[in-house]
Amino acid sequence: MTPAGEKIASMIRRGGALRFAEFMETALYDGECGYYTSGRKVFGREGDFYTSEQMQPVFGRLVAAAAEKWKQECAGEFHLAEWGAGRGGMEEFLDGFNYAAVDRDRDGAPRKFEGAVFSNELFDALAVDAAKRSQGVWRLMRVGMGDGGFVWTEGEELAGEWLEYAMRAGSFIEEEEAWIELPVELRRMLAQFDSRLVRGRIVAVDYGYTERELRRFAAGTLMAYRKHQASGEVLRNPGEQDITAHVPFTHLMEAAAEMGWVEARLRTLARWVMEECGESGVENAVEAETEAERVRLRLKLKTLLFGMGETFRAAEWWKAG
Ligand SMILES: C[S@@+](CC[C@H](N)C(=O)[O-])C[C@H]1O[C@@H](n2cnc3c(N)ncnc32)[C@H](O)[C@@H]1O
Repeated sequence: MTPAGEKIASMIRRGGALRFAEFMETALYDGECGYYTSGRKVFGREGDFYTSEQMQPVFGRLVAAAAEKWKQECAGEFHLAEWGAGRGGMEEFLDGFNYAAVDRDRDGAPRKFEGAVFSNELFDALAVDAAKRSQGVWRLMRVGMGDGGFVWTEGEELAGEWLEYAMRAGSFIEEEEAWIELPVELRRMLAQFDSRLVRGRIVAVDYGYTERELRRFAAGTLMAYRKHQASGEVLRNPGEQDITAHVPFTHLMEAAAEMGWVEARLRTLARWVMEECGESGVENAVEAETEAERVRLRLKLKTLLFGMGETFRAAEWWKAG
């Protein structure tokens, strides 16, 4: 068993089957053996997956072009904080914007600032609970121990706000048996942004679904990534593979509205790039000294806009302060 697996097994032995959010939190973020915290290579060719932040310098330059606009909106000193900054691939491009990286292990952003909060693939990496509808009843799905490793076990019936959440989401899924994820950390993350950003833009790029699109996801959206292979085996090898859940955009937009953030917009990443980075921003993103390099960068832009740009979306708000 993996070291994170050993830890999870002892938690189960002590307290019984875990909520999936507890399993995911330990598997990804345990201080000693979590997938993101144990120092393994997770991003890029030698790692397990690519994000837009590996599409450099193109993605960095595009976000810098948008940040120029955010800076114009700022009356005081502009700061740009990136939450969930990963290995810091944006830093060199956002240097001129008082850039600060925030992640589990670092927080360079001022306690309070004006400017902008940016995130890329942060929300899909937050721990979620899992729930299943069977014969009209929604139950929490917990993680227990079986002969060969970790197994799903049916837990208690959902109640309260998460039952309401599941019933609303479930109304978009036709199949009698349905799985969904409960985004139990999402509001806490928005509250973190809100407590630090006094006034300015918030932009979160990620993949996910609006509630109408839930009909495509009757089996839920939990995915594991290892060596560029995706699988649904999220309970396998904790600590040695990434675990993600698609972001529920309808819920995200509603939770942000409750924060009092305004000018909410949800666009595909491709559309966001075209509208927010402008023609000159896009041209600059593929600027290079040689034609061969320009061709290479244009291919990256194409992947961003047409490969990732249609599944990824940019959620954007303004906090008036
Ligand atoms: C999928 S990675 C994305 C990294 C980077 N933004 C990119 O696109 O390559 C998710 C990142 O979110 C970070 N993260 C997860 N929970 C966080 C939290 N509560 N606060 C700050 N960062 C967090 C993880 O440590 C990880 O670096």
